[in-house]
Amino acid sequence: MSLLQNFERYPLTFGPTPIEHLPRLTQALGGQVEIYAKRDDCNSGLAMGGNKLRKLEYIVPDAIAAGADTLVSIGGVQSNHTRMVAATAAKIGMKCVVVQEKWVPHYDAVYDRVGNILLTRLMGADSRLVEDGFDIGIRKSWEDAIQSVRDAGGTPYPIPAGASVHKFGALGYIGFAEEVARQEAELGFTFDYIIVCVVTGSTQAGMIVGFAAQDRAERVIGIDASGTLAQTRAQVRGIVDNAATLVGLGRPVREDEIVINPDYAYPAYGVPSEETNAAIRLAARTEAMITDPVYEGKSMQGMIDLVRKGFFPKGSKVLYAHLGGAPAINGYSYYYKEG
Ligand SMILES: Cc1ncc(COP(=O)(O)O)c(C=O)c1O
Repeated sequence: MSLLQNFERYPLTFGPTPIEHLPRLTQALGGQVEIYAKRDDCNSGLAMGGNKLRKLEYIVPDAIAAGADTLVSIGGVQSNHTRMVAATAAKIGMKCVVVQEKWVPHYDAVYDRVGNILLTRLMGADSRLVEDGFDIGIRKSWEDAIQSVRDAGGTPYPIPAGASVHKFGALGYIGFAEEVARQEAELGFTFDYIIVCVVTGSTQAGMIVGFAAQDRAERVIGIDASGTLAQTRAQVRGIVDNAATLVGLGRPVREDEIVINPDYAYPAYGVPSEETNAAIRLAARTEAMITDPVYEGKSMQGMIDLVRKGFFPKGSKVLYAHLGGAPAINGYSYYYKEG
């Protein structure tokens, strides 16, 4: 029985996402650990898709019920999340205001013109650039934007960064865990580990609650890309506790079921290390799987390093959750000018 049976879902995605075997990446990493990817980056026709749409499917019914006419959210300049909120607003016929903070110390000449922000503007969102730096918490710039919609006579529906600290923010990735279990039954095997990038927290938090119902939440390895581990871990903890109560998990989630590895977030949020770029190139050259320098490149780097270090026992099957994010790579063209 689904933990989500009492929650309304507004479809924004194509449905279950494919699980793809990655044989050339598996071989490149020694062939002892089988690597698969769950392609949430290909989950929708809305503006290139990604993890936020799974979350927003459970948030849209609440926005409609609230009588809102404007979705208001926040992220960095190259935020995937604000692109997905803009896409959702366009698709459901609402207006959209997004605050884009200066989260990343990165100065590519066209950083604020290409990739996510280009698509966000193209879909008609009112994109407001502000100077504030990186912080996954509740922000004054966002509260000001919400108030500005009210002042103009509109009805705002607030969606926090990453749709994470929202009462329904974790539901989509509880659904992911249930979907994986159904797909495993069809495949005839189970995955030993799931790798997921974590920043604002509700993707991993949803997975933790969903896999806790299957007694394997500690097999979800979060790879931190925030560089602010204590804050991210606290945010995941809070989202897990709220979601577990909301869906009636029936037991508290233990601290050891929340696994977040901080080793790959360097040098800073939004800035790739040489090892991140090497991981991005390896995934691209073995599997034509495109990962980005902010999020998936870091979780790819983490997975590769953990395989090489022997963290996964021989014969393990590892599922890499590809959460999207490729549009941001356009803001980093200088790194990849030679490929
Ligand atoms: C492509 C991509 N991967 C991973 C994440 C991390 O997910 P979360 O913010 O739910 O921790 C995000 C968003 O922050 C993202 O856009």
